[in-house]
Amino acid sequence: QDCSYLPNCDLTSYTTMRLSSKGNLIEVRSIEGLQKLLPLLTAEKREYLVVGWGANQILPAICDKIIIHLDFPFDSTYLEVARDEYILPASLGINHLTSHAVKFGLKGWEVFTGIPASLGGAIYMNAGTNLGEIGTLVKSVQVVTRTGELREEIIDKTSFSYRHNHFLKDGEVIVGATLVHLGMDSTIPQKIKDYLEYRKKTQPLATKNCGCVFKNPHKELQAGRLIDLMGLKALTVGGLRVSPKHANFIENGGASNWDQFKDLVDTIRFQMDHFYGIEFELEVKI
Ligand code: EPU
Repeated sequence: QDCSYLPNCDLTSYTTMRLSSKGNLIEVRSIEGLQKLLPLLTAEKREYLVVGWGANQILPAICDKIIIHLDFPFDSTYLEVARDEYILPASLGINHLTSHAVKFGLKGWEVFTGIPASLGGAIYMNAGTNLGEIGTLVKSVQVVTRTGELREEIIDKTSFSYRHNHFLKDGEVIVGATLVHLGMDSTIPQKIKDYLEYRKKTQPLATKNCGCVFKNPHKELQAGRLIDLMGLKALTVGGLRVSPKHANFIENGGASNWDQFKDLVDTIRFQMDHFYGIEFELEVKI
């Protein structure tokens, strides 16, 4: 079956932040299934939201929107050889691409290191680290429209900006992408290893969190540094707290919910605006 409908499902484990959440879920296992589903939901005026790895996503306690989760088949032997171009499904975990980059020393692919995401989710938000942004490796993106058509978006310099794509129209869903690399470079495996060490040292990886909560207001004015300077590390609301390890992370220590998350985020935003006059924009999707 191409799609399974799971009404009133516990969605807590669909995000890495693990905020308590319930709602209707549809698991989609093929592009054709999605092509049939989206026009049906549109005709019924049902709003939907695609959740990938759920690493940069917060869900409300009761979710009004239908959650769509993609799980397309992928033959892992495809990544056993190096290629010039890769045609990959949106539901593929980015971790597979990092392992592939280590194996073959693919230049440019160090960008994937440590990003907890599905390929589709990472492209949607042009995920990145201080090694670069994913958008630089994307040649084209396959998208299903609200009306069920499959279209190919050719990527150019205007397609992405910081944590943002400029090509996805209302209701469209990324189903796959064609990726390129910049050649072979034997220093890449070491670069990836060093970067993973850096993350382990500076980020609370073992906790329930949603990655960086805010976008950096400026390249040299990082949200984490500013929150830290404000003395807001370890600020708590219920079971949530600003991470003592990295202030742009919020850790969930228990059964917390969306309202508590919103409270904590609003407190930080208010203080930033009030004392620094800086408007903090959320990176995490709520
Ligand atoms: N800093 C502090 N206190 C803190 C946290 C950071 O002073 O509590 C300082 C650090 O010492 C450093 C500077 O702030 O001098 C920047 O910190 P970091 O290197 O951790 O980078 P970042 O800008 O905070 C970005 C991405 C991360 C990515 C890291 C590492 C954004 C919003 N965040 O964080 O991405 O992992 O670089 O490459 O662009 C994410 O997007 O979800 C994410 C975690």
